[in-house]
Amino acid sequence: MLKVDKTWVLNQTNVRKKEIVIVSHVAAFYENTAQTPLQIVEDPIFIERGVKVYIKRDDLIHPNISGNKWRKLKYNLLEAERTGSQKLLTFGGAFSNHIAAVAAAGQALNFETIGIIRGEELTPDSNTTLQFAKTVGMQLIFVSRTDYRNKEELENRHGKGAFIIPEGGSNALAIEGVKEVMQEIAAQLPQEIDYVCTALGTGGTAAGITSVFDGRVVVFPSLKIKNEEAEQMILQLTNVCKGTLDIKTDYHFGGYGKSNERLLEFIKNFEQINLIPLEQVYTGKMMFGIYDLLLKGYFKKGDVVVVIHTGGLQGRNSFLDEIKRK
Ligand SMILES: Cc1ncc(COP(=O)(O)O)c(C=O)c1O
Repeated sequence: MLKVDKTWVLNQTNVRKKEIVIVSHVAAFYENTAQTPLQIVEDPIFIERGVKVYIKRDDLIHPNISGNKWRKLKYNLLEAERTGSQKLLTFGGAFSNHIAAVAAAGQALNFETIGIIRGEELTPDSNTTLQFAKTVGMQLIFVSRTDYRNKEELENRHGKGAFIIPEGGSNALAIEGVKEVMQEIAAQLPQEIDYVCTALGTGGTAAGITSVFDGRVVVFPSLKIKNEEAEQMILQLTNVCKGTLDIKTDYHFGGYGKSNERLLEFIKNFEQINLIPLEQVYTGKMMFGIYDLLLKGYFKKGDVVVVIHTGGLQGRNSFLDEIKRK
């Protein structure tokens, strides 16, 4: 007669239980990415003044979900997956890189995506960002500026069963993702960092940085905004502010999405000298501000400055078009 060892049966049952592995497509997608480089910017102007400037090349993180979008979306996408959502709904302006990134993430990870866009006059062909979002399968809904303010109503109308990601992807989950860029930087540059510079749209990136970095966070809003408003945007996303916020409101170039020849020329020169691409909505304005502050003596000899390249280069095409037209 076959003798069955009860403990063996029990052990086998346990083994089988352990074999049930829950596959997270989102986690696998994120795990397959290499750490982005922290590159020294060797422009003679920085060398002359003895200021060490590094740039965290998060623009290289993924071709379509670049920079801070990759960071801010990580825990949102994991949460959407965990809660069984098959649809993502989010909000954005005409040049929102976040809209493009959510659309791309949806395509890569099999989420349906809906983008509510501010501006009823716009169409999917208004610019390359919206064109891209539509091409990768996002449903775009254009609403008036008045309707856009009432997010709750829009969510109820269009977002049944959807996982809602706020405008710019900035929420508590996004902050967790941004913290990881600072952890990476700390490992790549194990010395004291005096300044971390970032562009600001909705404040999530700056909030994530200041919640872990205890130095000076220099923030460059890409929109026309008062210092206190920008500060409030950041602080309402994090109640931990380890560092000092220094908000530079003079580099918006007329407001969100606006640019001028001076900015475009600056970007062109910067790219020629440093071989690092920028775009005109966020990172170009930030970098212009950094050079201007350097010339004004804000950064001192011996200072170590880390600049976050928040990506968004897919929106750069319109900048190149603009140059061609001139
Ligand atoms: C390229 C780029 N840089 C900076 C920002 C601003 O980031 P935040 O909205 O977190 O302030 C954005 C918007 O997400 C962006 O697309």
